[in-house]
Amino acid sequence: DPAMLQTKKVVVQRVVDAIRAAFGSEIDPNPMVTPATKEEFGDFQCNAAMGLAKSLKKKPRDVATAIVEKLDIADLCVTPPEIAGPGFINLKLTDEYVKAKMKHALQDKERLGIAKRDPAQRIIVDFSSPNIAKEMHVGHLRSTIIGDCLCRILEFLGHDVLRLNHVGDWGTQFGMLILYLREVAPEALVDGSDLDLGDLVVFYKKAKARFDEDPEFQESARKEVVKLQAGDEESLRGWKTLCNQSRIEFNRVYDILDVKLEERGESFYNPFLKQVVTDLQEKQLAVENEGAQCVFLEGFTSRDGSTQPLLVQKSDGGYMYSTTDLAAIRHRTHVEKATRVLYVTDVGQSTHFEQVFQVARRAEFYPPSVSLEHVPFGLVQGEDGKKFKTRSGDTVRLRDLLDEAVVRCKADYTRRMEEEGRAETSEYVEEVSKVVGIAAVKYADLKNNRVSNYRFSYDKMLTLTGNTAPYMLYAYARIQGIYRKGGIDITSRVTSLDLKLDKPEEMSLVRLCLRFDQILEVLETDLKPNFLCEYMYEVASKFNAFYENCSVLNAESERVMESRLAICDLTARTLALSFSLLGIKTLERL
Ligand code: ARG
Repeated sequence: DPAMLQTKKVVVQRVVDAIRAAFGSEIDPNPMVTPATKEEFGDFQCNAAMGLAKSLKKKPRDVATAIVEKLDIADLCVTPPEIAGPGFINLKLTDEYVKAKMKHALQDKERLGIAKRDPAQRIIVDFSSPNIAKEMHVGHLRSTIIGDCLCRILEFLGHDVLRLNHVGDWGTQFGMLILYLREVAPEALVDGSDLDLGDLVVFYKKAKARFDEDPEFQESARKEVVKLQAGDEESLRGWKTLCNQSRIEFNRVYDILDVKLEERGESFYNPFLKQVVTDLQEKQLAVENEGAQCVFLEGFTSRDGSTQPLLVQKSDGGYMYSTTDLAAIRHRTHVEKATRVLYVTDVGQSTHFEQVFQVARRAEFYPPSVSLEHVPFGLVQGEDGKKFKTRSGDTVRLRDLLDEAVVRCKADYTRRMEEEGRAETSEYVEEVSKVVGIAAVKYADLKNNRVSNYRFSYDKMLTLTGNTAPYMLYAYARIQGIYRKGGIDITSRVTSLDLKLDKPEEMSLVRLCLRFDQILEVLETDLKPNFLCEYMYEVASKFNAFYENCSVLNAESERVMESRLAICDLTARTLALSFSLLGIKTLERL
């Protein structure tokens, strides 16, 4: 039954039919169906009357009444629907429908009855994207966590997602790096041996110091870049050595975070850069300015009132970060055939993307049907709201940051075990600490509106109260525990289940769980994981209210107990699916 799979779609269709039936087919039947903003309003809200009233020159309430008269929806919703305020139509699913939908969700273990998008979209998510031989900092961590979460959501919805790591692996800094490598480890350039260069960040700093102090070194570094660009074998070997070394470090972080990415760094687009500039010139978008090639931007003015240019080629012939992004847009839309491309970086790059998207649009580098979206996020700050640093003032290494979360978690957990007089094997303690520690870091990041800055605090993210990963993971384990105690496999007997959901706390929780598909619909466009975290927290809170008011294992009858176990199962699955979309592992007991 398609109505079970996509309730909203069906409701929308019925409203459209009603509007047409009431006002004829010439009218634009914009249904304006949204999830209800308050529980007492029901499940959906139709706000079409207000807009229609304007064009029809009628009173909104009269329009609403006319729609309701034609609305054929008794198989799903309580009829007649209530008309509220200026002309909102409140739609409440019937208890019967909710029960049927609940059974449907329980039968579909993995997807909870949520359908895949048809047709699916080809979506590229450009995220993480650290730079070779530079430190992978907390900004990259945010990009990695948010980007991965968005991929998981879009993948779950059935889209064809390509996860791209746009690593900064090309550019003039490699002249200096390779040259320095020649000085300290010449063998790397001869036989390409993958020696261990130690900490690459230290290596970078030393190379930079050499570069800054010695003009001769600077000159040679420039020549080294030219050699690299020309494909000189030795230079390429040096470049590869540096990339491999960085990659090892990046992959460690991705392994800890359980994030999959396809590396396609800036160097990949190098062969296409020349053509980008030539095409921009041919379209008379790129013009010469003091020996450099640039495109004058629409709507970007400098302080002196002049039009701002986007530089695409320097006077020495070198290309820019933006040139690479222009080439990438072409490749991603024409070769990879993406129809939506997401760029997950900090807000500091908003202007860069606005400008690049504008030039790409004006140059017709991508079909107009494609959507290019910058998905910005705020800064990670220290607990004091200042720049995030270690005690000694250094930038925090990501691996250390993640390890620290796990170590702290272990200390907390071990203390609690002692307090409760429980004994767990050391392997289990390790596992719990890893899962909860990493979950804490991810959840703390995802639960904030990504556009705001967020303060990194181990203490806050690891507390057991409030909307934190430990709290949510405990809530989940507890619900699972209750369900297990019931000793009944609900899934195997869903069809024969005779649900009895008479208490308001029961219905309210079930309705909320069954709203998951709508949460995902919002996420699909808004790309804000905090919305999912808020939803999970609400589910957990409603579960508490349910559990306080409705005895599960000592229910008054077999039938009620089964119904309540089914509610536990539905709640647990809803949370499990949410966790998996956030990229967070769960535990059955804690
Ligand atoms: N490497 C860049 C940085 O560290 C991020 C790249 C983002 N993606 C892109 N296509 N520009 O800031």
